[in-house]
Amino acid sequence: MDAARIASLLLLLGVVWSRAQPGAEAAGTTVFTLRNNCTFTIWPATLSGNSAAAVGGGGFELAPGANVSFPGPTGWSGRLWARTGCVAAASGASLACATGDCGGAVSCALGGAPPVTLAEFTLGGADGKDFYDVSLVDGYNVGIGVAATGARVNSSTCGYAGCVGDVNALCPAELQVAGKEGEQEGRTVACRSACEAFGTAEYCCTGAHGGPDSCGPTKYSRLFKAACPAAYSYAYDDPTSTFTCGAGAQYLITFCPAQQ
Ligand SMILES: *[C@@H]1O[C@H](CO)[C@@H](O)[C@H](O)[C@H]1NC(C)=O
Ligand SMILES: *[C@@H]1O[C@H](CO)[C@@H](O)[C@H](O)[C@H]1NC(C)=O
Ligand SMILES: *[C@@H]1O[C@H](CO)[C@@H](O)[C@H](O)[C@H]1NC(C)=O
Repeated sequence: MDAARIASLLLLLGVVWSRAQPGAEAAGTTVFTLRNNCTFTIWPATLSGNSAAAVGGGGFELAPGANVSFPGPTGWSGRLWARTGCVAAASGASLACATGDCGGAVSCALGGAPPVTLAEFTLGGADGKDFYDVSLVDGYNVGIGVAATGARVNSSTCGYAGCVGDVNALCPAELQVAGKEGEQEGRTVACRSACEAFGTAEYCCTGAHGGPDSCGPTKYSRLFKAACPAAYSYAYDDPTSTFTCGAGAQYLITFCPAQQ
C-alpha cells in the first residue's frame, strides 16, 4: 500500500468518524460519490490541481452499477475523469487504458490523455463556495453528470452539470477514436475535440480567435452541446457552464448518465 492510498484510507476513516460528531457538517467536509452507470468497467481517476493530496487515492476500478464515496477536503481543487478499456499489469503496478490514460499509472499524478471528459472542482473557493463544471474542451470519452445534494444547495446556481446523452453515438467520422481491443474493437470509444483533430485557431480559440468575442461555437462544439448541454463544449463556451454551491454541498458524479 503506497502513501497516497494510506492517506485516502485515513481520510475515509476521518469522515466516518466526523459524521458521528455533532456539527461535523459545519466543518464543511465534502463527500464525492462516484457512480458507474456505464455498461462496462471504468477506472475513475483524480488529479489535484493545487499540489493538494490526492483524493480517492488518485484512481481505482469501478464495476458497472457500483458506487464509491470519498472525501474532498475544503480547499481542494482538481479534476476527475474516467479511464476506459483498461488492462492492469499482472503485478498491479501499472494500468494501460484505451482512453483517459495517465502515463500508465493506477494512481494518477498526471492528467488523462485526451480525448477525455473532465469534471473540474474547487471546494471552498471564493466566499467559501464550491465551483464545478464538466468540460469537453479536451474532447469526450464517457458522459459525466454532476449533481449537488445537501442542505445548503442553492438550486438557482447549484445545478446539474454535464451530460444526459452519449457523444460517441453522435461523433462525426473525422473526430472518432476507434477501440482497438476486446469488446471495444471497432466501436467509437472517444470523440476528439475539433481543436485536437484540426489544430486551427478557429477551433482552438487561439491567434485571431483568441478571445471570447472572436471564438464562437462551431458545428463540432454544437454536437457536444447537444448531448452535454450543461458542459463546456469549447474554450469560451457560455459562462453558465460553471456552477456554484454553498459550503456543505455533496456531489454525486455519474459516469454514462442518461438522465439528470
Ligand atoms: C448507487 O447510487 C445510486 C444513486 O444514489 C443508487 O440508486 C444505487 O442503488 C447505488 N448502487 C449501489 C450498488 O449501491
Ligand atoms: C442563491 O443564489 C442567488 C444567485 O446568486 C442569490 O441571489 C440568492 O441569495 C442565493 N440564495 C441563498 C439561500 O443562498
Ligand atoms: C443509467 O443508464 C440507463 C441506461 O443504460 C438509463 O436508463 C438510466 O437512466 C441511467 N441512470 C442515470 C442516473 O443516468
